[in-house]
Amino acid sequence: EKVTVMGWVQKSRNKGGIIFVDLRDRSGILQLIFEEADCGAESFAKAEKLRSEFVIAVTGRVEARSGAVNENLKTGAIEIRADYLRILAESETPPFPIEENSKTKEDLRLKYRYLDLRRPDIQRNLMTRSRVAILTRAFLAEEGFLEIETPTLIKSTPEGARDYLVPSRVHPGSFYALPQSPQLLKQLLMCSGYDRYFQIAKCFRDEDLRADRQPEFTQVDMELSFVDMDDVIDVNERLLKYIFKEIGVDVQLPIQRMTWQEAMDRFGSDKPDIRFGMELQDVSEVVKGCGFGVFTGALENGGTVRGINAKGQGHMPRKKIDALVEVAKTYGAKGLAYLAVNEDGTYKSSFAKFFEEEQLKELVKAMDGEPGDLLLFAADKKKVVWDVLGALRLHLAKSLDLLKKDDFRFLWVTEFPLLEWSEEQNRFVAMHHPFTMPMEEDLDKIDSDPGAVRAQAYDIVLNGNEIGGGSIRIHQDDIQSKMFEVLGFTPEQAQKQFGFLLDAFKYGVPPHAGLAYGLDRLVMLMAKQDSIRDVIAFPKVKDASCLMMQAPDEVDPKQLEELGLEIEKKEEKEEKEEK
Ligand code: AMO
Ligand code: AMP
Repeated sequence: EKVTVMGWVQKSRNKGGIIFVDLRDRSGILQLIFEEADCGAESFAKAEKLRSEFVIAVTGRVEARSGAVNENLKTGAIEIRADYLRILAESETPPFPIEENSKTKEDLRLKYRYLDLRRPDIQRNLMTRSRVAILTRAFLAEEGFLEIETPTLIKSTPEGARDYLVPSRVHPGSFYALPQSPQLLKQLLMCSGYDRYFQIAKCFRDEDLRADRQPEFTQVDMELSFVDMDDVIDVNERLLKYIFKEIGVDVQLPIQRMTWQEAMDRFGSDKPDIRFGMELQDVSEVVKGCGFGVFTGALENGGTVRGINAKGQGHMPRKKIDALVEVAKTYGAKGLAYLAVNEDGTYKSSFAKFFEEEQLKELVKAMDGEPGDLLLFAADKKKVVWDVLGALRLHLAKSLDLLKKDDFRFLWVTEFPLLEWSEEQNRFVAMHHPFTMPMEEDLDKIDSDPGAVRAQAYDIVLNGNEIGGGSIRIHQDDIQSKMFEVLGFTPEQAQKQFGFLLDAFKYGVPPHAGLAYGLDRLVMLMAKQDSIRDVIAFPKVKDASCLMMQAPDEVDPKQLEELGLEIEKKEEKEEKEEK
């Protein structure tokens, strides 16, 4: 068949009298073959000039490969014998090769993101992302959801992360905030009778970035009226099954559920990776009265002693164990105690000498320890022990290559604490947000023991990542007022910040609940990537800047003047303060 193909030159090899060109577009690579006898002198002369990233159009005949078939290539059995070539655009030499599994540093790739985005692996990621968005829309529409957009310029309601602010020209001195999520607006839509809403929404949070966090990110956001937690979970499990089919994964339903308390106790994390075991064991009872001051001291201070069993790692050299201790310290541990069970039944340990033989045996038994195992213990306040062992468990799993990217383990985590104590603010803050419904059986504790109240909140966790979260919302006046009171708002403050929601609730609010996924995180896992930057077309880096556009940037003084803003330079501020 005679065809015309267009795309980018991946590479060109001139074998003297015959030129092979690999042509690339987002569907893959195709071999072109130029010989003067087929394409004429003019096209052949042009073909001799071809270099990487030239954009070309070629007409020719599809033929079986004259040379060896390339099994690694979808088009490896064919080639196109060119009879006409047009150069559509020339290219300078790109600053790095356009290839899969690039070894180029990320900063350089992000500076030239438009070139980086030509690489096949990134193109596959963005194609997966597009499919997920399209399938999500199709599924939710079929389930009777309406897609409704909510505004991006809204009012600042700081509870949670820091807001991004946008100054108003028309109202000098006043600011919009960019939404951290459409939370309040989707609750208002429930008040208005749009009982199944969804939106693929941009959210903005001015917080410290990590591999799984961006200052602007995308949520698949939804809210439903007249539902309970099981209804929300049901529709979302079917949604997950539907979109994971796209990558050939059959999600088994129902997805396992676990309370927050159980997740913390067993895994030291509220987003446990359940692809592997190495669960935490509480050995406080076993080590009580031992001669090791680190353990007894922690217990006397109301703390706990817990351990994990790194199966078969007893042979780990001292140096590596010391490195684990350092890892533990970065998560707040004062130290890490270890006990390796040798094959001959003896021990290699940092604390065994403080134990009676019998008690040591009991400890090993409590940890399911067998010859060859390495037992690691942390003694401290419960929260520190959870953090340390939870992190160490992941650290070990990573170094032992237990985290298979094609093994997808979902988990619902439920019954989160409603509140957490903020040392910084010296008050309780909402663990999820202030509109999350407490569990009814805990309501009587809200004054006497607010920290013990559980919430009707749920997270969906995949392979140790929180890919989504939601809750049943408060729709009762008295409970909402109580919640604000516990959070330290006066009724006036609550009215000033959230008045529009509280007022709306006076006019007939249905019971409602919802959930939002972090689309970037979800697609990152589906595409088997380590960073959400790899599934975002134009991501920002650690300091929240865009290396390609050079944003943020200074603006014209005229723009500032229009907004009634003045910038106080750091040096000037310091000078002023000195005076
Ligand atoms: P939450 O704050 O848990 O809930 O956010 C929902 C999901 O969004 C993702 N996410 C992020 N992804 C990338 N970068 C970030 N900085 C970032 N922050 C959050 C996570 C998270 O699970 N309105 C509620 C949802 C609800 O109650 O319906 C909310 O925003 O995957
Ligand atoms: P130290 O008393 O600080 O010299 O610690 C003695 C041993 O106990 C060292 O191996 C420490 O790593 C370990 N250790 C210290 N503090 C803790 C702790 N809170 N939990 C577990 N092990 C600890």
